[in-house]
Amino acid sequence: MSLNDQAIDILTGNDRGGYTIPTKGLYPYQWNWDSAFIALGIASYDPDRAWSEVTALLDGQWPDGMIPSIIFRSDDPDYFPGPARWGKTPGAMPSTGVSQPPVLASVVRQLNAGGSPAEIARMREVFAPIMKWHRWFQSSRVMHGATVTTHPWETGRDNCPEWNIGLDQMAVAPDLAPYVRMDNKHVNPRFRPSQEQYDKYLTIVQRGEEMGWDQNRLLHEGPFLMADPTLHFVLLRANRDLKAMAEILGEDTAEIDTWIASGEASADYMWNDALGAFTARDVKTGAFSTGFSNASPLCFYADAGTPEQRGRIMENMKRIAGKVRFMLPSWDPDADAFEPQRYWCGPVWPQMNYMVAEGLARAGEVEMAGRIREDLSAAIRQSGFWECFNPLTGEGCVGNNFSWTAAVWLTWHGPQPLRGAA
Ligand code: GLC
Repeated sequence: MSLNDQAIDILTGNDRGGYTIPTKGLYPYQWNWDSAFIALGIASYDPDRAWSEVTALLDGQWPDGMIPSIIFRSDDPDYFPGPARWGKTPGAMPSTGVSQPPVLASVVRQLNAGGSPAEIARMREVFAPIMKWHRWFQSSRVMHGATVTTHPWETGRDNCPEWNIGLDQMAVAPDLAPYVRMDNKHVNPRFRPSQEQYDKYLTIVQRGEEMGWDQNRLLHEGPFLMADPTLHFVLLRANRDLKAMAEILGEDTAEIDTWIASGEASADYMWNDALGAFTARDVKTGAFSTGFSNASPLCFYADAGTPEQRGRIMENMKRIAGKVRFMLPSWDPDADAFEPQRYWCGPVWPQMNYMVAEGLARAGEVEMAGRIREDLSAAIRQSGFWECFNPLTGEGCVGNNFSWTAAVWLTWHGPQPLRGAA
């Protein structure tokens, strides 16, 4: 079977009727940014089904505008932490109490790039809810102009060592309710986050639940608060795409313009001059994280950063490219805590390679964009459609038959390559 057919098989096998799970067993629900990338992949062979992936995600939107990271349409005893642990959440369906990087607007724009009347109608259908979600980010996740997070899970880069400085200064709740992890039953524990980290993730969930998921309280009184280049740059890019849609739809762009201007100006809050990279920063202490991550070059995807900043990021990427066989590792191989197989501590992530390659190509960094795209394609050819890959060997890690890996493959190599894909 060709790799295209295998990829389509994975996506149809993970289809749960209008939405797609990331992989069987480990992740049995609809995840936010997964669905956005999945929609792009499905669009290469079934544009109508791709659209339902987008609208299904909006079903989980909260009254305040947040679109949560996971929508629990059922209660699967094989998954933890499920709906019982997150407690009562205000949306129409049970969900987590955190969001995820808002790639949706960029995907909606790309899916409807032809601008036919039907495509414009689709943009109109989702414009207001997405606008509301972006407004939620401005009110509940911006500090010092930078996009911040109250939980590492919200960044989509769960246990990246980038979060260690924020986690180190918080304590595990003495009253943390006992729990049994399920992730380690599905996959090898040495690929997954450590127990101490897990206790802290659940401490934040418990505090959020005690606060009734009042996002303003969580922001100001929660145990963890870090500025995040993933959320910041993905949101900035999404705001640019939302503005382009507003113009097509004849909507006022003034509010979005202010978000874009502040997103551009305040990226500097995360500029780590010692490292020559955008990195996460602990808002409580002002400390910068200590390594180059695969979120650092998302400034290209967002079209942000000065020429000098971009130059220093390129130098870092060239250094790292000399150390690994497969670009782009999620954490700097020269930094402490690099582990090539442990989740966000080193492996190559398909959706990150997709966004970074797209940004670099747009910025004219064609060679590095090509390497990042080719290396992921080579890892997939060698090992199959895994969740992520060891950057030294190309070996697949964690979940197999993974939806976003199949989707990214299809956007690059599928039956009808999408306009604008890197
Ligand atoms: C993990 C990843 C996150 C992803 C989810 C489902 O939690 O860190 O980014 O959305 O799995 O694939």
